[in-house]
Amino acid sequence: MGSVTLSGDVLTVVAGGPLRGELRAPGDKSISHRALMLAALADGDSHISGLSDGADVAATAAAMKALGAGVAPDGEGVRVSGGRLRAPAGPIDVGNSGTSIRLLAGIAAGCPFTTVIGGDASVNRRPMDRVAVPLRLMGADVDGADGGRRAPLRIAGGELSGIRWTPPAASAQVKGAVLLAGLFAEGETVVREPIPTRAHTEEMLAAFGADVRVAGGEVAVRASRPAPFEFDVPGDPSAAAFWLVGAAVTPGSEVTVYDVYRGAGRDGFLRVLRRMGAEVSAVPTGRDRVRLTCRHGPLRGVTVAAREAPDLIDEIPVLAVAAALAEGPSRFEGLGELRHKESDRLRSTLAGLAALGAAAEVDQQALVVHGGARLRGGSVDAAGDHRIAMAFCIGGLAASEGDETAVGGWGAVATSYPGFVRDLARCRT
Ligand code: S3P
Repeated sequence: MGSVTLSGDVLTVVAGGPLRGELRAPGDKSISHRALMLAALADGDSHISGLSDGADVAATAAAMKALGAGVAPDGEGVRVSGGRLRAPAGPIDVGNSGTSIRLLAGIAAGCPFTTVIGGDASVNRRPMDRVAVPLRLMGADVDGADGGRRAPLRIAGGELSGIRWTPPAASAQVKGAVLLAGLFAEGETVVREPIPTRAHTEEMLAAFGADVRVAGGEVAVRASRPAPFEFDVPGDPSAAAFWLVGAAVTPGSEVTVYDVYRGAGRDGFLRVLRRMGAEVSAVPTGRDRVRLTCRHGPLRGVTVAAREAPDLIDEIPVLAVAAALAEGPSRFEGLGELRHKESDRLRSTLAGLAALGAAAEVDQQALVVHGGARLRGGSVDAAGDHRIAMAFCIGGLAASEGDETAVGGWGAVATSYPGFVRDLARCRT
């Protein structure tokens, strides 16, 4: 039987034994950010339960407080008193959270005061011109490091006008930022997406009563606010993916994850896993959630088109682990955006695979994984990226019996899934 030990910032797993059990995935990170922001914009009290307990969402909660919203524990969730945003007393620090800074930039652009938003070294390295450019076109004054292309961003918000915008890269964060700014703008703000990305911003705006319309690959908003709401955040598919892939690749395993969000734009990894031959069942358990079960079995290589990429962008590292163990090669197209995540995820995924003895390479924007690997233990650096840490923990569990894998920089996992090791222990008893 294998083991899992956390010592300082290093997680060590010894391979051996199946994953078996039933888990609730942590609250969805993307939905949690938006729930807090929309509640802060709504005039009155909202109640949100099931929020992600990760540091990224805590950063959004703190940012909304800094902007004048009340955010306080209330029963099983939090109560957010919104509607009266005001200038923050000092710079807002979003830590590692790219979603926080980009979405917040949209809100700050609509507010008649100056907001400074920065983050850790990773966030301050990531491209921000993708939000700065459209927000400037709408009328906000957006400045920042590196000629306004990087955080910290200084945003003097004010009178905005609607624009029609086609983001140059497929990004739900950019779409979200422009749509949130559109809530403050005169006229219509339209985002056109050549390749669709996760639809949480427009879906939640519609559900909570803002003026939004979705048709023909376009989302249009007009000046409006959400109404106060009660909302329970479903579980995070991107977190569930670790357990489902873990079950698929570890002999004797069967894992169920319940309460997982099941809307468009987030289930791409399930389709890919099924194409690889994984036995995954999905039972709807409510309007917005599903119960997923995956059992160990043989996998085959897969080809994933660029059009599918936004739908599984956060699951690529763990799918690459599955591909390494599958029979035959896999090819994942259109992964240029992976370079701009918490780490350069193409690079960190390749490094992790190599550390565990799997052959893979990058061919332009595609990740090619040779397949048929017998993974061995190794030493992997999370590179400050929670998803790299968790993906290669799963890789380590699927290595040859008794092999030891050390994942350094494990602390990054706290951004989205502080309970990961606890849930892993639950699946290994
Ligand atoms: C997110 C969108 C994705 C994803 C990130 C969360 C969101 O980024 O990688 O973890 O909540 O909008 P992009 O769509 O900007 O690539």
